Amino acid sequence: MEYWEKRFSEGGKIWGPKPSKTANYALELFHRHELEKILVPGAGYGRNTKLFTDSNLEVVGIEISESAINIARNFNPETQFFQGSVLDMPFDDEKYDGIYCCNLLHLLLKDDRISFLKKCYEQLRTNGFVFFVVFSDKEGSFGKGKRIEENTYESKPWRPTHYFTELDLKEHFKEYSVIETGLMEDSENHGELGPHIHVLRYIFAKK
Ligand SMILES: C[S@@+](CC[C@H](N)C(=O)[O-])C[C@H]1O[C@@H](n2cnc3c(N)ncnc32)[C@H](O)[C@@H]1O
Repeated sequence: MEYWEKRFSEGGKIWGPKPSKTANYALELFHRHELEKILVPGAGYGRNTKLFTDSNLEVVGIEISESAINIARNFNPETQFFQGSVLDMPFDDEKYDGIYCCNLLHLLLKDDRISFLKKCYEQLRTNGFVFFVVFSDKEGSFGKGKRIEENTYESKPWRPTHYFTELDLKEHFKEYSVIETGLMEDSENHGELGPHIHVLRYIFAKK
């Protein structure tokens, strides 16, 4: 929590105002399947939730960092935010049509990933959809830093990252019917890294 609080209070809109490329693709799929009400765990300062609310989806975000939520209050006031950890879900008793989660699952260690995904499953209506985006084993930082668990490395101090193979990602969503998985390159430009490209893995699946 302190890691993210510091990053947002010092860096503001770290990844800029534009959504992740993956959010544009998720939006296309959400429209195709006529979803209306979306939950976004680890929503950050709202760069992706804004894309969804601009497209008239009803969006609820969950975010651990108060600083990120304070930015989102101006940047994307249409999204309702709950402040807290996704490990303490649910924050409401709603059932959602869809869940979009970008670059959060890989930050959790194995037991927490399983517990978080169980909570997501429970907050999704029957026949609801998930679109999750994670770091892949094709990332440049894979294997760097201290090894914490299988395919999990502390590539930055205090921030363990789990790098997903396709098989591993599907295994995490084995209770779902998997519709599609894939890799997507997403460019970013921030901090000491400067311009760089992430090789992200996504999964789109139905409950
Ligand atoms: C890599 S950032 C991605 C943010 C956002 N999804 C985006 O793409 O702009 C990960 C986000 O998850 C939040 N986060 C980390 N651990 C969390 C937890 N346990 N519960 C809720 N949010 C968490 C961080 O504060 C941060 O906003």
